[in-house]
Amino acid sequence: MTIQIITIDGPSGSGKGTLAAKLADHYQFHLLDSGALYRLLGLSLHQKELLDSLDSATVLAQSVTIATNLDIVFKTADVGAKILLDGEDVTQTIRTERVGEFASKVAAIPELRAALVERQHAFAKQPGLVADGRDMATSIFPQAQAKIYLTASAESRAARRVKQLQGMGLDVKISDILANIQARDKRDMERAVAPLKPAVDAYIIDSSDLSIDEVFKLMTDYVDAHLAK
Ligand code: DC
Repeated sequence: MTIQIITIDGPSGSGKGTLAAKLADHYQFHLLDSGALYRLLGLSLHQKELLDSLDSATVLAQSVTIATNLDIVFKTADVGAKILLDGEDVTQTIRTERVGEFASKVAAIPELRAALVERQHAFAKQPGLVADGRDMATSIFPQAQAKIYLTASAESRAARRVKQLQGMGLDVKISDILANIQARDKRDMERAVAPLKPAVDAYIIDSSDLSIDEVFKLMTDYVDAHLAK
């Protein structure tokens, strides 16, 4: 039987993560947070002091091997999911702005992206998958039945991110966050390989002025009409 796949692509802070989790829960599908893979690889290469030397062919080859063999565990539990890297709980660490920067560096390198493809494909299992990322529809799962592109203005994404970080007890300035978001958008949209852009057949939602529940309703209406019955 065909595996049903829902992709959600879009820039960071558009609400993708929250909505992808809600959709996975609603349809009882598996969930792929592909950004977490880039974050984990970024963190791992940083810890191994390789991240700043990726323009060396030797370091890049070594990094590809690391990417292919990353020891990652996604623990799903009733009391909060956990992500382990080399056995260490990095659930919080990978969500920091700093690791976001590491991830963005890694994501711009074709060889490292390629090294993560198979791992992403492995998430497509019955009864179905919700895949959250930047290139889920355009590159990893072009066969997906439902393709959503979720976006929002940089300002509203920065305001949400500040709230989220403050909720984690961090002291942050909105101007710094906005500058970070704009720089990351530029890098994600202008990179040569798998740039952030909607698939031609994607359903585009701008969540700037919508609540999570409103976006969720738009998504389920669209998905219900597109999943095979
Ligand atoms: O969604 P996120 O903020 O966790 O993503 C972290 C970085 O990884 C971000 O710079 C974009 C990149 N990324 C990507 O290039 N392709 C994906 N499928 C997911 C994330």
